[in-house]
Amino acid sequence: MKALILSGGMGTRLRPLTHAMPKQLIPLANKPVLFHALEAVRDAGITDIGIIVGDWHKEISRAVGDGSRFDLRVRYIRQEAPFGLAHCVLIARDFLGDDDFAMYLGDNVFGDGIAEAADRFRHSRPAAQVSVTPVGTPQEYGIVETGPGGRVSELREKPRRPRSNLAVTGAYFFTPIVHDAVRAIEPSRRGEREITDALQWLVDQGHDVRAVEVTGWWKDTGRIDDILDGNRLLLDSAESRIEGSIDAASTALGPVIVAPGARIIRSHLRGPLIIGEGSIVEDSYIGPHTSIGAGCVLSEAGVSGSILLDGAAVSDVNGIHWSVIGRSARVGATPAGTARHRLVVGDHTELDVVA
Ligand code: TTP
Repeated sequence: MKALILSGGMGTRLRPLTHAMPKQLIPLANKPVLFHALEAVRDAGITDIGIIVGDWHKEISRAVGDGSRFDLRVRYIRQEAPFGLAHCVLIARDFLGDDDFAMYLGDNVFGDGIAEAADRFRHSRPAAQVSVTPVGTPQEYGIVETGPGGRVSELREKPRRPRSNLAVTGAYFFTPIVHDAVRAIEPSRRGEREITDALQWLVDQGHDVRAVEVTGWWKDTGRIDDILDGNRLLLDSAESRIEGSIDAASTALGPVIVAPGARIIRSHLRGPLIIGEGSIVEDSYIGPHTSIGAGCVLSEAGVSGSILLDGAAVSDVNGIHWSVIGRSARVGATPAGTARHRLVVGDHTELDVVA
């Protein structure tokens, strides 16, 4: 079985971060979302990978390379524009040949990976298999209706009156019959070739499409809140590893990862959290569910539930929570006695300050 990992797209909902980087390279627990995806696919026993890339192809191929450091063989397939998930299958035909394959959305994370779903597919080999999970707001998702044995009878995109709460996640498994489906469908009203239409075509042609519930949590990291939530969920299973230094005047509670070269000075760490290579944290408090990238500097700062990308700096500001601070961005305080905020805010940035 091969795998097709989708790493194109625009990531408009993740601006401003995606003005500077592809969304698949945004780090969760200090590792790009895409690396979590590659590891999930590898752990499902798949080694032949095609990655769909768009405008950010250089950044993605620079980060992943030929895949050898993940024990994978990676080939890149260029998509001119985000013409839809089914379009990705269409343009990957040469790579996929007549093999079965997993299709994995490169901005999705599964707490338990996809190995179990892959085994189910290998074992029963329906025409297609979708990984689903119950959701509280089915109106916002692609929803499947199923019959006996999880056989899919209908798929509906964001149904106004949902008849089930089983949402399609970002892991699919296909036999080569899907190539007929993606050729048969037309682009939708939003101009994309939709994978739900291809799956519905298979159902309508009488093919066996199965829904298998994912075990563990699933996150589609399409929005900032999801990024922070995914980071939180991943850190929840972190185990302590201190490779940098924590001085005698500091305290560390709960699972704490301090990478090589990082220095913690007169500070309080309350895990789960991770501090990246070479970062310096002094006279600060770092609270639960925080990921601090490499080369960050925090001084007299208080940060919790947040992500700091590489090279970010925070000084003299407390109470930073549920925030994402971009690469080499700086957050500081105005001199004492100044009652004004000074802001240099990039395009599509969001700021919520205490009134
Ligand atoms: P989406 O989240 O549906 O799309 P997007 O990345 O363009 O995001 P936004 O709506 O915020 O602009 O994409 C899911 C995944 O599939 C993501 O990893 C990008 C990838 N993708 C492609 O590779 N090609 C495509 O044509 C589309 C639509 C998505």
